[in-house]
Amino acid sequence: MNVGISEVSYRELYNIILSSVAPRPIAWVSTLSASGQPNLAPFSFFNCVSVDPPLLAFCPGMRSPKDGDSDRTAVNGEPKDTLRNVRETKEFVVNVVTYGLLEAMNVTSGEYDSSVNEFELARLTPQPSKIVRPPRVGESPVSFECTLHQILDFSTAPTGNSLVIGQIVAIHIDDAHLKDGRIDRDSLDLIGRMGGMQYTRTRDRVELARPAVG
Ligand SMILES: Cc1cc2nc3c(=O)[nH]c(=O)nc-3n(C[C@H](O)[C@H](O)[C@H](O)COP(=O)(O)O)c2cc1C
Repeated sequence: MNVGISEVSYRELYNIILSSVAPRPIAWVSTLSASGQPNLAPFSFFNCVSVDPPLLAFCPGMRSPKDGDSDRTAVNGEPKDTLRNVRETKEFVVNVVTYGLLEAMNVTSGEYDSSVNEFELARLTPQPSKIVRPPRVGESPVSFECTLHQILDFSTAPTGNSLVIGQIVAIHIDDAHLKDGRIDRDSLDLIGRMGGMQYTRTRDRVELARPAVG
């Protein structure tokens, strides 16, 4: 099969990309609105993009139309709460997601009214951050406090995404996941998002040294 982009619907393209670019790490992003309302939501269009300066990036889109149009062709134009909050306050926290937090993370992915506090809904503990105002998720083993570096808006279409780039200003690591002063990679049990409603665990490991050149 060879597919030209103009031949596939938004939904088909979404499925091809999400099933093939996988597994994707999940940023569980906590923010505050300008009036101080807490918000928490997962984003798997997410990765680290630079260590110097230390940058993380994720892509929130627009809200799905409330009429349940699964092709998202109806105009909605309302940004997700996370994107609106980041634009307003220029701060957020990226919390990592373990297998034990899968169900709580899923609860926070509903497109609730902005007055809903997803920390309360998913029975999670908001812990004060060190530098930024949004709280981190107390149950997450690693949290990155970020200030906004840049937002790139790709499109004004209702299906358009924005790229939010954040500069890490503080990192919280749960001591239970430290070994000899470093993160114990084997203890984190992080999950990744696959296509559809599938997730993967990250316990299968292969070690391979890079080629020695020169
Ligand atoms: C695992 C997972 C990953 C998700 N990744 C994204 C994403 O990368 N971009 C996006 O716009 N929505 C993504 N969503 C959907 C948002 O989490 C959902 O729209 C949420 O309601 C947004 O919340 P907010 O309006 O409070 O920001 C994802 C959902 C799940 C369960």
